[in-house]
Amino acid sequence: MRFDVLTLFPDMLETVFNESIIGRARKKGIIEINAVNLRDYSKDRHKRVDDYPYGGGCGMVMMAPPVIDAIEDRKRSFENEPLVVYMSPKGRVLSQELVNELSEREGFIILCGHYEGIDERIMEHIDLEISAGDYVLTGGELPAAILVDSVSRTVKGVLAEEEGFKGESHYNGLLEYPQYTRPEEYNGKRVPEVLLSGHHKNIEKWRREMSLFETAKKRPDLLKKAEMTADEKKKVTAFKRRLSRKSK
Ligand SMILES: C[S@@+](CC[C@H](N)C(=O)[O-])C[C@H]1O[C@@H](n2cnc3c(N)ncnc32)[C@H](O)[C@@H]1O
Repeated sequence: MRFDVLTLFPDMLETVFNESIIGRARKKGIIEINAVNLRDYSKDRHKRVDDYPYGGGCGMVMMAPPVIDAIEDRKRSFENEPLVVYMSPKGRVLSQELVNELSEREGFIILCGHYEGIDERIMEHIDLEISAGDYVLTGGELPAAILVDSVSRTVKGVLAEEEGFKGESHYNGLLEYPQYTRPEEYNGKRVPEVLLSGHHKNIEKWRREMSLFETAKKRPDLLKKAEMTADEKKKVTAFKRRLSRKSK
C-alpha cells in the first residue's frame, strides 16, 4: 500500500512515520509513505503556496495551482488510480468502519491543509474529505498521520501477529476486553483466574463477555449495532442493571 502525503511540513510526518510499527513496515517495504513538500510545486520565487482570501477575512488560504499540480503529478506516478483524500473538519469522520473500507484500496494521495484551509477549486480534484473529529486543528498533518497509521495496521505483515487488529476495539463494533500482563498480583489485585487457566475456550468466552460489558459501560451507543446472541443480550441487560444500581 502506498501513501503520498502532500504537506507544507514533511519533517513533521517523517518523524511520526519513522518510528515503531509503521517505521518497521516502511523499512521492510510492506508500506510506502512519501511526505511530499507542496512548496516544491510552487512557481513563486519565495516558494509561497498561500495567499490572502478574496472578500477579506483573517488568515491565509492555500492556492489552487501548486496544490493541483502536486496532486496531478503524484497521481501519474501510481500504477493504479489512487484515492485522493483531503483531511478536513468538514469531512466524513474517521471510524474503524471507514478504515476497513479504505483498507481495500492500494494507494492514497492525502492532502494536508493549513492556515484557513484550501482554495475551493481544489475540491474538484478530491475524491473524499476525511475528518479526525468534530474540532478544528491547525493543520491536516496530525489527522493524516492518524489515517495512515489506522489504515496501515490493516495491511498484512504490518502487525507482528497476523490478523492481530481484528480483535481490537471497534473492529467488530465492540470495545476490546481488558488486558493484563505480569505480575499476577499487584497491590492485592489479582489477574482474573481464567486468564491463567490455559483453557482457551473459557478464555475466549470470558473475553467476549468482557468485551460486551466494557462496551455497555463505556460506549453503550455501540451496542445498538452490535451482533449478539439472545443469551448475550440477557447478560448485557443484567450487567447494565447492576451498573445502574451501583451508581445510585
Ligand atoms: C485551521 S484548519 C481550517 C479550518 C477551516 N477554516 C474551517 O473552518 O473548516 C486548517 C487545516 O487543518 C486541517 N484540519 C483541521 N481540523 C481538522 C479535522 N478535524 N480533521 C481533519 N483535518 C483537519 C485541514 O486540512 C484544514 O485545511
